[in-house]
Amino acid sequence: MGKNPAIVEEALRDSIHGYAPGQISDEVGKRLALFVTRGQQEVDHFIDPKSLRSFGDAGLGERIFQNVCAACHGFDGRALNFKSEENPEFVGTVAGVNPWEALHKIRNGHPGVPMPALRFLLLQTLVDILAYAQTLPDK
Ligand code: HEC
Repeated sequence: MGKNPAIVEEALRDSIHGYAPGQISDEVGKRLALFVTRGQQEVDHFIDPKSLRSFGDAGLGERIFQNVCAACHGFDGRALNFKSEENPEFVGTVAGVNPWEALHKIRNGHPGVPMPALRFLLLQTLVDILAYAQTLPDK
């Protein structure tokens, strides 16, 4: 955090990490370096480590969830099952058991799928979405 991104870019190619351009291209390396040095945010003030509850306002988060997320995840968050029929995992499940992961995905999107990254919004707003996601069914 806070380091010069060029140092991280170089580190990707050094003998310790040794990523070839075929594995991580210069363009992707640039983005990765920016994420590592400038893109992370402390979220401890937003999630209670004991109860795992988000301190956000679920009522405010509901508006965004129902407008943006529901298009793919469904109005109750169960249109996409990340696991199996017998052992389902929905937005509500992830938000409940691993709120940090859910918040990370809400901020940055999910790799390889067209889920939008909402990091242009205030972190507080994303924490509100997380709070609402925690009210959704987990199975
Ligand atoms: C364009 C469709 C789309 C939209 C809009 C969308 N998502 Fe997703 N989301 C996906 C897909 C596809 C996945 C990956 C599903 C999988 O792994 O099977 C995903 C994954 C996730 C995961 C991660 C699950 C895991 O594996 O840990 C979370 C949490 C999540 N979405 C929450 C949200 C929230 C909250 C919103 C609204 C702010 C949202 N998504 C908007 C398509 C979308």
